[in-house]
Amino acid sequence: MTACRTSWRSLLATCLVAVLFDAWSRTTGHGQGLGLFVAAQAGWEGVGTWSTGNGNVLTGPSLGAPYNNSFIYPNVTGYSFSFTSDGYFEQTQFTWNPNATDPHFEAIVLWQHGTYEVLTNGSITTNPTVFNGDGRIQTQNACSAVSSNIYYYNEPGLYQTWAVAPWRGKTMLRLGKYDGSLLPRMYLVSSDPSQFMFPTKFITNSSIGTYQIGSS
Ligand SMILES: *[C@@H]1O[C@H](CO)[C@@H](O)[C@H](O)[C@H]1NC(C)=O
Ligand SMILES: *[C@@H]1O[C@H](CO)[C@@H](O)[C@H](O)[C@H]1NC(C)=O
Ligand SMILES: *[C@@H]1O[C@H](CO)[C@@H](O)[C@H](O)[C@H]1NC(C)=O
Ligand SMILES: *[C@@H]1O[C@H](CO)[C@@H](O)[C@H](O)[C@H]1NC(C)=O
Ligand SMILES: *[C@@H]1O[C@H](CO)[C@@H](O)[C@H](O)[C@H]1NC(C)=O
Repeated sequence: MTACRTSWRSLLATCLVAVLFDAWSRTTGHGQGLGLFVAAQAGWEGVGTWSTGNGNVLTGPSLGAPYNNSFIYPNVTGYSFSFTSDGYFEQTQFTWNPNATDPHFEAIVLWQHGTYEVLTNGSITTNPTVFNGDGRIQTQNACSAVSSNIYYYNEPGLYQTWAVAPWRGKTMLRLGKYDGSLLPRMYLVSSDPSQFMFPTKFITNSSIGTYQIGSS
């Protein structure tokens, strides 16, 4: 770390890169660590847990154990993302299905986790495939609580843009989707995402248990 001797600003940047690069060299030999290296260069400020609205939709156990086919439905729609400093993400979403042919609304709740990378061009990619088998999506007809189907979910994400900024006294993360449209504003719930995340490992095939897919 002999490079850490100039102004504090570049010192911070240089040291951060050095530390992350160091951690990467020590812990992994594949792509994920490179994402961290680039994240430092790209000034990534998204580490933490983020949620829309009043934070009723959150990553982590508050919405049940999706990998065990048990979602607890939140009482409002919303999005939540957690991003760790060591390259893992988790995502929870509860929305109305815009495609439902049924005249009644159909609700969709989904959950997945995996690794993410921040690219130098300002985009973010999320890769749940590293824990393929953990993610779940459940659709439910709002007018008949009995018809509920749960499936495996494993959907890599490309977010073209990201921005972290102050917004009405809160800190906001705005993600731009692959098609240029923006996801709703998410606010910082915690800068320690571990409070709102399942273990950053393959849960379905771990000591926590192995679970069968099915209908509920
Ligand atoms: C998973 O689901 C089964 C059956 O519903 C339940 O008995 C078990 O406690 C659940 N395990 C976890 C970790 O949620
Ligand atoms: C939704 O749930 C949260 C806690 O889970 C509660 O604080 C809030 O009052 C609920 N909102 C409504 C409209 O029921
Ligand atoms: C809606 O339909 C489009 C086109 O068939 C599909 O790509 C998309 O995944 C669907 N969205 C949902 C939430 O089912
Ligand atoms: C950044 O690069 C990725 C991978 O090549 C690409 O998919 C994405 O569209 C690019 N983002 C922008 C904003 O150009
Ligand atoms: C699941 O666990 C078993 C036993 O530890 C192991 O042999 C298998 O490779 C694991 N599967 C995956 C996809 O990690």
